[in-house]
Amino acid sequence: MALDDDLTFSVSEEELARRKMLTLLGAGALSIAGVGTAVTSFRFLEPNVYYEEDTRVGVGPPADILFGTVLVIAKHKLYVIRSSEGIYALSSVCTHLGCMTRYAEESGQLACPCHGSRFSLDGRVAAGPAPRPLRRLQITLERGILVVDSSIEVGADAFFKVA
Ligand code: FES
Repeated sequence: MALDDDLTFSVSEEELARRKMLTLLGAGALSIAGVGTAVTSFRFLEPNVYYEEDTRVGVGPPADILFGTVLVIAKHKLYVIRSSEGIYALSSVCTHLGCMTRYAEESGQLACPCHGSRFSLDGRVAAGPAPRPLRRLQITLERGILVVDSSIEVGADAFFKVA
């Protein structure tokens, strides 16, 4: 039996155009899939971590905070206050539902605009629904600068003593 090794056959121009279009579509789909895979793979190589903000804030030299000062540092949600006992820092986040309190100079209190809680300048609850005093934060002296760390809470009797 003779083998028929002549596999050529005629293809119409229309069929060639259709095949060319399908080839282009296939190549395009593969390219898109390849780019997607490359992007995904590259992102997989990056560490998937959340970089938290630094909780430490430099406030300045202790001598710059005069007696009676209530320093409002809204950006870092804290107050730095100097009383007769020393300097201390309070979080300005209300302990009721987390609104930002503000310093009400006329009453000498820290007031929450959300539900009316009021705190005395030492952070104790003076009025309203707040269940706890404002958080008192650690203050340290580093190279002559007071540094408040909002991640470290200290007791209500903690003061930075000014010489
Ligand atoms: S959040 Fe401050 S009183 Fe409710």
